[in-house]
Amino acid sequence: MAALQSFLYFATLVAILIPVSAQLTPDFYDKVCPPALPIIRKITKQAIRREPRMGASLLRMHFHDCFVNGCDGSVLLDDTANFTGEKTALPNLNSLRGFEVVDQIKSAINRACSANVVSCADILAVAARDSVKLLGGPAYEVLLGRRDSRTASKNDANTNLPPPFFNFSQLLSNFQSHGLNLTDLVVLSAGHTIGLARCTTFRDRIYNDTNINSKFAASLKNSCPRTGGDNNTNPLDSTTTRFDAQYFRDLIAKKGLLHSDQELFKGDGSGSDPLVQYYGYINPDRFLTDFSASMIKMGNMKPLTGINGEIRMNCRKVNN
Ligand code: HEM
Ligand SMILES: *[C@@H]1O[C@H](CO)[C@@H](O)[C@H](O)[C@H]1NC(C)=O
Ligand SMILES: *[C@@H]1O[C@H](CO)[C@@H](O)[C@H](O)[C@H]1NC(C)=O
Ligand SMILES: *[C@@H]1O[C@H](CO)[C@@H](O)[C@H](O)[C@H]1NC(C)=O
Ligand SMILES: *[C@@H]1O[C@H](CO)[C@@H](O)[C@H](O)[C@H]1NC(C)=O
Ligand SMILES: *[C@@H]1O[C@H](CO)[C@@H](O)[C@H](O)[C@H]1NC(C)=O
Repeated sequence: MAALQSFLYFATLVAILIPVSAQLTPDFYDKVCPPALPIIRKITKQAIRREPRMGASLLRMHFHDCFVNGCDGSVLLDDTANFTGEKTALPNLNSLRGFEVVDQIKSAINRACSANVVSCADILAVAARDSVKLLGGPAYEVLLGRRDSRTASKNDANTNLPPPFFNFSQLLSNFQSHGLNLTDLVVLSAGHTIGLARCTTFRDRIYNDTNINSKFAASLKNSCPRTGGDNNTNPLDSTTTRFDAQYFRDLIAKKGLLHSDQELFKGDGSGSDPLVQYYGYINPDRFLTDFSASMIKMGNMKPLTGINGEIRMNCRKVNN
């Protein structure tokens, strides 16, 4: 009886000390590792100066992390004997990039703070935010305190990430399955205002789609032939190193590069046509503020907090 009582007392104490569903907060590292955010910004900036596309790659990395069992750094894990990770899943293989930049950030932070307190999942969230800002996009306050997963799943990456051949209703259902809505779908898809895509992801569109500007389609066929050239890349919008609302204006001109992009604007007033018109021409500034809100929403997807997960020492491996 006394043992039970003291157990209950102890359990209550633990429950009080460790919040069950801890909230993410912007000041999470202010006390425990003040140089963390400045380091992420500095290394992200260097990487983008070296290669502007890296900003796009880091933004996409955070998206691919969050859409597979939440923003938990799972996308960074290499395969082990216990699981096949997400790097070889179809949406990521020969496609996802920026892993070396994340490694560089992680080791610089651990050195500067002489401690392993900053999660890989948070590094992805901050590097994505900084990339957007550095390429001319909005500044927003990123919420922190995510912890890292101890596992990853190739299968979950294959089933949870939307492919470029999805139609409008498939894209919307996919986003809704992640707690996101139509506005989030349209606004976050405009992450394609920066970066490149490989021929293999838009070949069917330029040869088979009808909802495409014919000169635009023709201009892509040299570098993306019917066979071969799978890895040849093309900008996702016409101002590929500038984070702006041009993506929407390209859709209105039927110059979306991916089938999934053009699904957001059919030109018949259906689906998200009105939203694309709104962000493209009526209120492009509103895209920037709405993008910030949707990024924060995406970044809050199922984070591991409190005693769940771990702070990985090396972003590619779970701790022993
Ligand atoms: C709506 C569904 C989406 C689909 C179907 C999709 C699909 C794709 C595809 C096929 C590529 C090219 C990959 C390759 O060449 O291998 C790509 C690139 C990219 N995606 Fe998405 N994407 C979607 C949403 C998003 C979201 C929500 C974001 C971020 C907020 C995003 C950010 C990016 C960026 C920045 C790139 C360029 C990466 C680089 O240049 O390294 N995408 N996406
Ligand atoms: C696999 O999981 C077991 C049990 O959690 C652990 O002891 C082992 O170190 C793991 N192996 C690898 C390669 O991570
Ligand atoms: C495309 O690039 C990857 C490496 O990123 C390589 O493994 C693959 O063989 C290349 N494919 C073609 C068709 O050249
Ligand atoms: C979208 O794709 C799904 C699955 O292939 C299909 O059932 C649906 O009819 C399609 N919707 C439209 C509007 O084409
Ligand atoms: C999507 O959710 C946001 C809040 O997260 C809300 O402001 C917006 O109106 C919603 N959009 C739609 C189409 O429901
Ligand atoms: C276009 O559609 C045809 C007929 O459905 C199909 O055989 C072909 O693989 C598709 N893609 C390209 C690039 O032609």
